[in-house]
Amino acid sequence: MSDTNLSADDQKRIAAEAALAYIKDGMKVGMGTGSTAAHFVTALGRKAQDEGLTLACVPTSEATDKLAREVGLTVTTLDDQPHLDVTVDGADEIGPRLTLIKGGGGALLREKIVASASARMIVIADETKPVDTLGQFPLPVEVAPFGMTATRLAVERLASRLGLTGDIVQRPDKDGPYLTDGGHFILDASFG
Ligand code: A5P
Repeated sequence: MSDTNLSADDQKRIAAEAALAYIKDGMKVGMGTGSTAAHFVTALGRKAQDEGLTLACVPTSEATDKLAREVGLTVTTLDDQPHLDVTVDGADEIGPRLTLIKGGGGALLREKIVASASARMIVIADETKPVDTLGQFPLPVEVAPFGMTATRLAVERLASRLGLTGDIVQRPDKDGPYLTDGGHFILDASFG
């Protein structure tokens, strides 16, 4: 991740292709969301076809589900396959001791559920993602629309107790609030 002659997109693709080495025939694979994860899904589709692999793939978003089907992967659900061998996903920031900020692409709840159901998680990223301290990227917090104001106040109280200051804004979309695949809102917390 130190070859600055490569574009960020090339770095994402190379990281995605490197992750293929961990995928073996018969595995149950969680697939993340975002541009880096999309490289992985595409490369995995190719590998599965070339090597005749039987895989069961669990996507973390509707977008990843669609791409996985397009590249010929066998898509299933976490209800059908509740124990996954590995999940491969991107990240918005990678801090020390394997800490991450996830959710810039809005799929954080499903990403975290799928990762939690996996024996192993592989994070793939370009060189812009590792940081010394997490938080330049606003922390996404997914919240249910029901009781949104109460939840927001609770998040603000918790942040203040932890000494975290900064704006907490509800993520917008083109025609109103951003909605996740699960129909939730996202609060982006700029804690710095
Ligand atoms: C999706 O919700 C995120 O957690 C992504 O993993 C993150 O935003 C990284 O996206 P890119 O791979 O597009 O940078």
